[in-house]
Amino acid sequence: MNVSIIGCGDIGSRVAPACRERGDSVTGWVRRNDSVSRLKALDINAVQIDLDRPLKSLVQLKSRRLYYFAPPPPRGTEDSRVANLIGGFTDTGQPEKVVYLSTSGVYGECKGAWVDETRPPAPTVDRARRRLDAENRWRAWSEHSGQALVILRVAGIYGPGKLPVQRLQSGQPMVAEADSPITNRIHTLDLVQICLAAMQRGRAGEVYNVSDGHPGAMTDYFNQVADFLGLPRPPLISPEEARRRLSPGMLSYLAESRRLSNRKLLSELGVVLRYPTLEQGLPACV
Ligand SMILES: NC(=O)c1ccc[n+]([C@@H]2O[C@H](COP(=O)([O-])OP(=O)(O)OC[C@H]3O[C@@H](n4cnc5c(N)ncnc54)[C@H](OP(=O)(O)O)[C@@H]3O)[C@@H](O)[C@H]2O)c1
Repeated sequence: MNVSIIGCGDIGSRVAPACRERGDSVTGWVRRNDSVSRLKALDINAVQIDLDRPLKSLVQLKSRRLYYFAPPPPRGTEDSRVANLIGGFTDTGQPEKVVYLSTSGVYGECKGAWVDETRPPAPTVDRARRRLDAENRWRAWSEHSGQALVILRVAGIYGPGKLPVQRLQSGQPMVAEADSPITNRIHTLDLVQICLAAMQRGRAGEVYNVSDGHPGAMTDYFNQVADFLGLPRPPLISPEEARRRLSPGMLSYLAESRRLSNRKLLSELGVVLRYPTLEQGLPACV
């Protein structure tokens, strides 16, 4: 199989060798010069493309299996990068199957309820609106072209190099557990095997929530990571103080609470999680 990984950063650079082990030929797309060098050092074929610019027609995607891991642009409510890529398919050829890595943020505020894939998306911030726009663009492409699409709605990713070390070291505060939203996580290494399972066994047109199935208070997450790293737990502040002291980005995460069901992921994709809890996953972060 010919595989292209668009946005071959942390997750992509782990998916690539796993694909190669299965006998696939893999090309990673990245934006920056130093990312090309990084991929070459990992022995991954690299293509340098900026999705914010018109695509070069020399790139071939016909009949390829495509993982799309690039984030949307930083502003607005649309994903112009996905629009640009899909618009270029007339020149590059149509991929045969796409796995799109979205986020569970598209569900918006759910007041701590369990959320499965039947829940209609209701994004409340532009970051999530851009993701839903990307999902919709991929869906329209799939319906129009007849090619297969699988959408993964991914919870907060933690893993090697993805722990909030700086936040904890700098002593930034957090609200008490009772005031904290319920959040969801997935370990990087489990996400990698889920991406492969989605490409191999994901049903065309389906959405799968991706989480370890053990939601918990955001404050408890920071406390557990702090204990694991031997750092002080975040000092606790009231919600009123949080509104004055925390960044708009962090406040937007505090405003959304949900429990992500991973039942469909486990039953349909046949995934067996290596790290179903934070206690099991944290030692595999160093
Ligand atoms: N962090 C979370 O909790 C979370 C949760 C759900 C989903 N996600 C999403 O999961 C995806 C994969 O995560 P990751 O950790 O692998 O991300 P990452 O390491 O930041 O990789 C992102 C990749 O996208 C490429 N890229 C960015 N802008 C581009 C552009 N304009 N044109 C071409 N390529 C571009 C980057 O290339 P350069 O490095 O060369 O710029 C990089 O290879 C991301 O979309 C992320 O937003 C994250």
